[in-house]
Amino acid sequence: MKRLLMASALLLCAFALLSCGSAKRTQKATEMTTNESVQAEIKHDIAGDWAPIRVSQNEVVFGPEGGKAVITNQNYDKWWLNDAQVAGTKTFFHADPGENYTYETLDAEGISARIVSKNQVEIKVTPAKQERAWILHLQSGNAFTSISVKQIAAMNAERITNPTLESIAKRTSVRSFTDQPVTDAQMEAMLRAAMAAPTGMNVQPWSFVVLRDKARYEEVFKGNFNLRIFRTAAAVVVFCADTTVTRAPRNNPQGEKVTMPNGTWRDDMGACTENFMVAAASLGLGTVWTASYPYPDRYLPIKEALGLPATVVPYSVVAVGYPDGEVQPKDKWKPERIHNERW
Ligand SMILES: Cc1cc2nc3c(=O)[nH]c(=O)nc-3n(C[C@H](O)[C@H](O)[C@H](O)COP(=O)(O)O)c2cc1C
Repeated sequence: MKRLLMASALLLCAFALLSCGSAKRTQKATEMTTNESVQAEIKHDIAGDWAPIRVSQNEVVFGPEGGKAVITNQNYDKWWLNDAQVAGTKTFFHADPGENYTYETLDAEGISARIVSKNQVEIKVTPAKQERAWILHLQSGNAFTSISVKQIAAMNAERITNPTLESIAKRTSVRSFTDQPVTDAQMEAMLRAAMAAPTGMNVQPWSFVVLRDKARYEEVFKGNFNLRIFRTAAAVVVFCADTTVTRAPRNNPQGEKVTMPNGTWRDDMGACTENFMVAAASLGLGTVWTASYPYPDRYLPIKEALGLPATVVPYSVVAVGYPDGEVQPKDKWKPERIHNERW
């Protein structure tokens, strides 16, 4: 179970590259095979398991004479000088001649490597809370290569969940609904969540037009690309935003109120729309956010049909109802998008 919890918390990318320029020649390696830079990506879902790195045909092939793998920290480039230096870090191993090539390194800062066949090396890492990088140096006879191994940080080895996180995770776009109505209490719960969203300067620029009459759908969304979705929805909610704010100037709080553009209304409305949809998911309802603003061909007819004031725009339109059939949320977790301290 613990391993499963950790499963989504780790992603490994290994980029195999040749780094054997003449400046890096070892005394032993008077001849070298050269190769093209190879890129290999490893998705390693479960920390603690072995993941293969394929050593390509142009790279080191471990022959009967055995080979050697050394793991160093990313910037440690003196590995080839002598074994003693590397041995000092306790991170190397040799494959003995004629043996089955399965030799593990001593665990070096959370990474181990082993040669499992003539041209395959595997690595194993322990979960990490920070990004880590190593270089895996492989040598067989006079041939050697280096593989850069990057471990993406596991944010949490133990995955936390609770009803709020479950509702966020299970929300997914639903575009076909059953006939079951959405109750007034459900609608109010979702709108309360919508109005709980944060807004710049606490302006709360929103108003909502709730449509339940299917004949109205046809009028309001005539020619709208998403009308076919709305037709099956128990309710369609138009999220309206006042693009202006009327208040005293910041440098004169006691002064006369003036009307000015509200710089954050789009951000405010995005947070509001998402809150509504997460609340719907928590109630077992499905939603889909459909674009209105900034597409004039969509928002102008809606504005006209709903009779919105001049400074108010229909920002988004959300269809809501009970999903017709099962819809699976997409897995969007990408730990490699997370950087610590700097990009
Ligand atoms: C600003 C915005 C506009 C969108 N417009 C539409 C739309 O017009 N029609 C539609 O079917 N889905 C629309 N979507 C839904 C996206 O297609 C959907 O969120 C995305 O594919 C991710 O899938 P998920 O919602 O299931 O996670 C929109 C979503 C956002 C955030």
